[in-house]
Amino acid sequence: MQVQWFPGHMAKTRRMIGEQMKLIDIVVELLDARLPLSSRNPEIDELTRGKPRLVLLNKADLADEDATKAWLSWFAAEGIPAMSVDAAHAANLNAVVSKIQAVLADKLAERAAKGMAGRTIKVMVVGIPNVGKSSVINKLAGRGSAQVGDRPGVTRSKQWVRLRKGMELLDTPGILWPKFESQAVGRRLAFVGSIKDDILDTEELACYLLAFLRTRYPAQLAARYKLPEDTSGLSDYELLTLVGRKRGFVVSGGEIDTLRAANVLLDEFRGGKLGRITLEHPGEEEEA
Ligand code: G4P
Repeated sequence: MQVQWFPGHMAKTRRMIGEQMKLIDIVVELLDARLPLSSRNPEIDELTRGKPRLVLLNKADLADEDATKAWLSWFAAEGIPAMSVDAAHAANLNAVVSKIQAVLADKLAERAAKGMAGRTIKVMVVGIPNVGKSSVINKLAGRGSAQVGDRPGVTRSKQWVRLRKGMELLDTPGILWPKFESQAVGRRLAFVGSIKDDILDTEELACYLLAFLRTRYPAQLAARYKLPEDTSGLSDYELLTLVGRKRGFVVSGGEIDTLRAANVLLDEFRGGKLGRITLEHPGEEEEA
């Protein structure tokens, strides 16, 4: 599932989210725990019109645990309620429902004081493509499989799912466009598969990923591809070639199929085969 954003899509999505926002009490903003800033939509404040928000750092099972802790502190310091989740494996996301109630505690007390305690809390999930919106909605709703359409700008009949007494979730997520602020942000989004990688050169992308991994997670990289301890003499492309050689991706004439190596590296990284890795850490967002 990949989406290329262009102004028409953005305008439609903006309108759709704007219309739904009138009904919504709280927005659950899904971010990828491996790249919490790069997976944020830069216009989220404007789009959600000051509604209370809960950030979920999803795919926490794939992210570096220490980094996720650091990110949660970072969000706390920013005054943004946040928690980490793993929507693919967690049996249910009850803690999210409780957290929503906690975030809205003041509002609920206010409503109760006005004699409106019976009003239903309406929740909406938003996030960029592939961040896990359908998975989160299905887990919150206690469902097994995806039912949620995932095409930008497609309006479906509104459906509300009851989460617990007095709380309902909009069954259609708000699909946000990723930010294309810098090459580094675009690359991180491509590493995790949130933007189309056929618009990028796969080998080049893999070289960028290797450059990051050999600096930040050298032990995990070396362990996965049985690399020697010291690869400092190799360029990123030579390292990619070595990965291919280790995997036996040899083509006629003894050359290494580096495209295959690149695809395998990206797939294995996305599938968590290299271990838990976070691509951006608090305070160093613009890492080269
Ligand atoms: P979206 O609606 O935001 O586009 O995302 P969706 O829920 O479709 O999830 C995108 C992919 O990410 C899915 O994998 C899904 O299983 C996976 N995913 C969602 N949440 C988590 C998580 O917390 N941890 C991990 N490890 N993966 C997660 P897929 O390969 O597209 O499909 P499938 O593997 O479910 O068949």
